[in-house]
Amino acid sequence: MPVVICVGGQWGDEGKGKIVDLLAEAADMVVRSQGGNNAGHTVVTGGREFRFNLIPAGILHPTTSCVIGNGVVLDPRGLLEELEGLEAAGADLANLVISERAHMIMPYHPVLDRLEEEARGDDRLGTTYRGVGPAYSDKVRRIGFRVGDLTKPRFLEKKLAFVLPLKNAVLDRLYGAPPFTVEAILAEYTGYAARLARYIRDPFPLVQGALARGERIVLEGAQGTMLDLDLGTYPYVTSSYPSAGGALAGAGIGPRHVTRTLGVIKAYTTRVGYGPFPTELAGAAADHLRETGREYGTTTGRPRRVGWFDAAVARYGVQVNGVDAIALTKLDVLDDLDPLPVCVGYRSKGVGHAHPMANISHLKHCEPVYEALPGWRTPIAGVRRYEELPAAARGYIERLEELVGAPVTHVSVGPDREQTIVRGKAL
Ligand code: IMP
Repeated sequence: MPVVICVGGQWGDEGKGKIVDLLAEAADMVVRSQGGNNAGHTVVTGGREFRFNLIPAGILHPTTSCVIGNGVVLDPRGLLEELEGLEAAGADLANLVISERAHMIMPYHPVLDRLEEEARGDDRLGTTYRGVGPAYSDKVRRIGFRVGDLTKPRFLEKKLAFVLPLKNAVLDRLYGAPPFTVEAILAEYTGYAARLARYIRDPFPLVQGALARGERIVLEGAQGTMLDLDLGTYPYVTSSYPSAGGALAGAGIGPRHVTRTLGVIKAYTTRVGYGPFPTELAGAAADHLRETGREYGTTTGRPRRVGWFDAAVARYGVQVNGVDAIALTKLDVLDDLDPLPVCVGYRSKGVGHAHPMANISHLKHCEPVYEALPGWRTPIAGVRRYEELPAAARGYIERLEELVGAPVTHVSVGPDREQTIVRGKAL
């Protein structure tokens, strides 16, 4: 079983980190394929908590190679902090490879991210201010800096002499913000080069070698389908492709190697930032879900918006990604709630819709159609076998399977690795 894609089926924060960490146990390689340090996940193992923004969750497994792929935008400063934190916690980083094709977040990107958001006013997106959008824009505009450029200081300097005036003109004339100098950026980034050099390589031979040997590779997605630049709730999306197609492009792997696409889907729905969210809750139910589920951003600490399970969103995720199996996360967060409304579709301007509409205004103003499922009102965090779940919890899972059109193979009932019920054949 060579390649498993692990993709978020909602708006991110579905708990992919824990699932990738579990899959990494039997994997030879984990590749992070897109996004930047806008993403964040926490893995709890043996009572210890590890936080990641860029480094693949597989790093906690000493024999697993971990690749930061070509589709990622990487902030070298953030990465170094993360590496140092992991080293201090005793993690072994010898198996980390950073693609020289990955793009870098430059010091002006977070500044522009914030200024552009402020300029949008009421229409702001709610970005993480990490400079991810501006970095991807520059990549597409072919004025981006790649990680491999760090090893070529003269090339870096020449390119900065061309790019920086473009950036400074915008900073100064449009926003009245202070400019950047070639010298300062060069000094800062050559400092990073010295510290990151041992990890920077072209992972192409490594990845292709693993494929040729039939080794097991896990593609770790960041964010989720509804934040995909093409498939999500544009413009309230991130600037990369968190869908299964993006995972392949971002890792340099062709579709014929994929044996399984695992969709990670939370038992309810959350989103951070602005944009349509049909099943969003307010008031006591929202507070309960947010506090019980610890729904605060790993990267920014922002409280997440929370809502009932939206089967129209999850079904869309299953379909556009070709999901074979689902890891359903945070089921225990629903322990005290009864009944449990589940959205099965929407009504917009008198018309029924079974999947999220492309028209963002229709999606924003649509009316969710709910079906009420019974809650189980008993703690399930200690359950390890599917049959031992309360009947109503099994009923909830099985109804979700019907609604979204894929089997649930993993059920997560708590943050620890151990708190996972594997149903049927493990992946
Ligand atoms: P950006 O990726 O920082 O440009 O933010 C664009 C949108 O994507 C905002 O709504 C962010 O809150 C959202 N976003 C980016 N990364 C994540 C993530 O890892 N989880 C959830 N939302 C995210």
